[in-house]
Amino acid sequence: MRTFLIAGNWKMHQNIAETKAYFNEFTKLVKKAPEGVNILLCPVYTSLHAAAEATAKVDGLHIGAQNLHFEDKGAFTGEITAEMIKETGADHVIIGHSERRQYYNETDETVNKKTHKAIQAGLTPVVCVGELLEERKADRHFEVVKKQVVEGLKGVSKGDATKLVVAYEPVWAIGTGETASPDQAQEIHAFIRKELSSLYDEGTAAKIQILYGGSMNPGNAEELLSMEDVDGGLIGGASLKPDSFSEIVHFAGKIYSS
Ligand code: PGA
Repeated sequence: MRTFLIAGNWKMHQNIAETKAYFNEFTKLVKKAPEGVNILLCPVYTSLHAAAEATAKVDGLHIGAQNLHFEDKGAFTGEITAEMIKETGADHVIIGHSERRQYYNETDETVNKKTHKAIQAGLTPVVCVGELLEERKADRHFEVVKKQVVEGLKGVSKGDATKLVVAYEPVWAIGTGETASPDQAQEIHAFIRKELSSLYDEGTAAKIQILYGGSMNPGNAEELLSMEDVDGGLIGGASLKPDSFSEIVHFAGKIYSS
């Protein structure tokens, strides 16, 4: 059985003081990740170092950035490199989140370059894919997600593919309170796994974690995480509170050991 990754995307929330307070609380609620579960929290850049200090206290806790630049250095005002992220103690990075695609012109091509850079630097990329509401309504979600997967992972070798995580986040479910039903999530996760099998092979595809994201919360997480091809969550709003996030972590542990 694949292990779970329960990931939190804090977006533009939580300064250094708030991050420290969060982990003070969180480490009381989760002393160690449950068996079969890894935990990931992705704060803003300035809070990465403070967050990474908590990894010494909780076994199975990882820290990630929310973006990176694909170059190693240069005149790119406002950007950050993979090595700079690693230096903070982080070991994951979210790539191609729909908000980055929507507001900062990220394309499948930049997602691909960033994915290569992360792997090369030894960071685990969490590559985000997902369709817009109008694409879902037009029944184009499979086609859209396939293109994002194929182009986003272009040139990634079979060996490296098992070092990455895919996050399926239907854009219409992000921050809207609307979630994909467990069956909708399973349907597209299975489709993504099939695409990964054709890009690589079945054994490789079986090892790649596919997370669901979009209004996951303690009320719906158990059902979503019980689906065969849902290997975790990428959680925005509900990851900002240690109690709701830790509840989801515990659900994953319960499902893994059942
Ligand atoms: P949400 O965000 O859980 O607040 O919908 C998820 C995400 O954007 O990663």
